[in-house]
Amino acid sequence: MKTLLRIDASIRRRGSFSRTLGDAFVEAWKHRYPQGDVLRRDIGHEPLPHLSDEVANAFFTGRRDLQALTLSNHLCDELKQAPEVLITCPMYNFGIPSTLKAWFDLVVRANETFRRNGSQYEGLLHNKTGYVIMAMGDGRPGLRTTENFEYYLTDMLAFMGIHDVRIITVGGTAMRSFTDDWQTTYQQSITQLLNN
Ligand SMILES: Cc1cc2nc3c(=O)[nH]c(=O)nc-3n(C[C@H](O)[C@H](O)[C@H](O)COP(=O)(O)O)c2cc1C
Repeated sequence: MKTLLRIDASIRRRGSFSRTLGDAFVEAWKHRYPQGDVLRRDIGHEPLPHLSDEVANAFFTGRRDLQALTLSNHLCDELKQAPEVLITCPMYNFGIPSTLKAWFDLVVRANETFRRNGSQYEGLLHNKTGYVIMAMGDGRPGLRTTENFEYYLTDMLAFMGIHDVRIITVGGTAMRSFTDDWQTTYQQSITQLLNN
């Protein structure tokens, strides 16, 4: 059965562009895979703890059975079991929300999602598709901050082996010129993303 892991990072309870588009994406995804299963991890509203010395040290033991690894094990298993991953993500202060960084810190883990292969690193998550919906108050194409944001997210996913990453950028949400019918425009992007 197809599984989609949906991760939402916006702190907003109402009026979040990334979450609204995430809802539209899931609706389209369910239409395409009626038997599909959607796992939800709402890190914007239920933030994950930051990495600690204890957890990082437990990573380096190479063991899985330590108490300190319970949450990381759970998040890694959740990610591994989903062939498709959707991240909805706002830009905060030129970067990703700290809750999403905390998620990456807990799942980017040696011999779980990547491994060392000689002098190289190799991602261990194969045959997955990543979908990223980004929302930015500014986000003009070509801005260095916009590009850095996109590169960071795609690089993190690629590091774990997710190379097929499809992105929708909702830029200019804080601009006066942002249109009221933005959802119609981006609905087309969702259809294209799923049909690629
Ligand atoms: C704390 C905070 C910091 C922000 N920093 C930026 C920023 O650096 N660049 C930008 O373009 N927009 C920034 N914004 C605007 C958000 O990216 C924008 O409101 C976006 O639509 C948020 O996503 P959401 O609508 O899904 O919640 C910031 C918003 C907040 C609340």
